Amino acid sequence: MLTDSVRRAYGARAGEYTEALGTLTAMPPEDQKLISVWARHIGGPMIDAGCGPGHWTKLLHDHGVAVDGIDMVNEFIESASARFPEVPFRVATLEALPAVDGTLAAVLSWYSIIHTPPHDVPAVLNEFARCIRPDGTLLLGFFEGEQIEAFDHAIVTAYYWPVWVMHDELAAAGFDIVETHTRADPGQRPHAAIIARRRN
Ligand SMILES: C[S@@+](CC[C@H](N)C(=O)[O-])C[C@H]1O[C@@H](n2cnc3c(N)ncnc32)[C@H](O)[C@@H]1O
Repeated sequence: MLTDSVRRAYGARAGEYTEALGTLTAMPPEDQKLISVWARHIGGPMIDAGCGPGHWTKLLHDHGVAVDGIDMVNEFIESASARFPEVPFRVATLEALPAVDGTLAAVLSWYSIIHTPPHDVPAVLNEFARCIRPDGTLLLGFFEGEQIEAFDHAIVTAYYWPVWVMHDELAAAGFDIVETHTRADPGQRPHAAIIARRRN
């Protein structure tokens, strides 16, 4: 299964990944600002879905949000729990979030669907929609491209997505688009972030 190959690839390099990218200081200030401003409006429980090293989960926790970090890679959950013992982390998948229907105020999916085969992305967005209550929000970060296209990501194959296609997928899953941010930092792949609100 593709999910297994992603799990194995990250599991083998979780320590290295955390060292390189597992701190806020390694993150672009624009992303920290976007996530922090968004967090101010979250009035309820949320999940950082595909939290990896857990530094974004810790930021959300420090903003007073009741956040759980979930990831399918045991090694990430173990190291995040050790680095940030005050933050709850657990092993789970994007395809089956540990939340009752309509109970979450928000989901952060920061670069966590980038490895999901494109034909499986609608099912993951539907799972986010299942868990998020009406008027709750989703913040989705991903690599932007002119078409849906695979590329050799440092860990395992990932995919570029055009913003307008992601807008359509989000709309089909029951979200309204609130904000879209795009950026192309020198030497980096183009980035996109969308805040979407769960329709009533
Ligand atoms: C590029 S990393 C991003 C990690 C973190 N969100 C960050 O911004 O540093 C992608 C993460 O998504 C997780 N992931 C990918 N597919 C997943 C799935 N189906 N279920 C749970 N986690 C998944 C990976 O294990 C990995 O931790």
